[in-house]
Amino acid sequence: MSDTLSPRLPRRRFLGGVAAAAGTLGLPLPGLDRVLGAQQPRDDEYDKTAKLANNENNYGPSEAVVQAMTKAFKYANRYGYPDGNLVAELAAHHGVKNEQILTAAGSGEILDVCCSAFLQDGKKIVGSDPSYSILYSHATGLKSDTIKIPLLPDYRQDIPALIRATRNNYRDVGFVYLCNPNNPTGRLVTTAEVRQLLDGIPSDVPVLIDEAYHHFVDDPSYSTSVPYVIEGRQVIVARTFSKIAALAGMRLGYAIAPRDLLAPMRAHMTGSVNAVVRWGGVAALKDTARQEWVKRQTIELREKSRRELKAIGYDTIPSDANFFMVHLKRPVVPVIDEFRKRDVLVGRPFPPLNESLRVSIGTPEEMQRFHTAFREIMKA
Ligand SMILES: Cc1ncc(COP(=O)(O)O)c(C=O)c1O
Repeated sequence: MSDTLSPRLPRRRFLGGVAAAAGTLGLPLPGLDRVLGAQQPRDDEYDKTAKLANNENNYGPSEAVVQAMTKAFKYANRYGYPDGNLVAELAAHHGVKNEQILTAAGSGEILDVCCSAFLQDGKKIVGSDPSYSILYSHATGLKSDTIKIPLLPDYRQDIPALIRATRNNYRDVGFVYLCNPNNPTGRLVTTAEVRQLLDGIPSDVPVLIDEAYHHFVDDPSYSTSVPYVIEGRQVIVARTFSKIAALAGMRLGYAIAPRDLLAPMRAHMTGSVNAVVRWGGVAALKDTARQEWVKRQTIELREKSRRELKAIGYDTIPSDANFFMVHLKRPVVPVIDEFRKRDVLVGRPFPPLNESLRVSIGTPEEMQRFHTAFREIMKA
């Protein structure tokens, strides 16, 4: 294992790069931020906020995961160590070969390396808008464009338009991006629609299917796209331990894809996954009871919140994820500020949905704080 924060990288360049990435991702990097003089909330300030802004899992990792990670701290001083066979466990979980798995420091890194690997020579992404825009920002940083297809009036993704855009720009398309369920809307793409997309575009165009919110879906019309990888299609499925497993701060995600698609991506990997979260990931994968509990609790609170908002006259977008959007009937930016004044952090603006607020599902107490603040703010 290599020395990843290598002294070979000029320090200023390293700090600049990480700061830029952290800024774009909105990721907290406390130690580094101190060096950079950036404003991070103090511990006590942070603790008192209701964090409903980043689609995290506010319950934290399960007891089994914490125990596994605690044990793994004995490897903190090592480069080579037993890692719980993370890759083999993931491969077995999905019924694929080890060589069809690529682990990363969060699925965000998978998305980034897809851009680096497939957007050479001015190639473009085809994807919906709005969707997980950090991917599109990353492409812009690499001087690549995205062909953005607006959502349908009911906020679903427009599969025929994605197909048309891919076919019309065939030679220029590096990959198609499909976030399923989509962030920020929470709407899913059905099994039939995914097949329609894959069958409708040239078979050699890679399709990155981001299943960050897979574990929260209950709708039987949806299914994972992993079987397409097994079929040998040019599909990359991205998954994360940040959401259902509550390991966002520990950074673990992975791709499932045919070996020939992973090869160019591997060449662009820069970091490595830490020893502690490797063990945490294996434990989380096996803790299916916890996954089921988080899923049920999240869905119950999401639907309760949507009903409460409906009862006071606010429409929401149906969601299959751990967040939903509510239509405010007024610009979202000042409302976000009002929530912040009340120590409730809600989602940032997602243009062009400038009157919609994205709310992540927190604990029952945090959702109560959200509803109290919502009534107060919207009455004014
Ligand atoms: C759709 C989607 N993809 C990927 C990510 C990145 O998650 P992580 O890098 O924590 O795995 C997020 C994070 O919110 C997301 O919403």
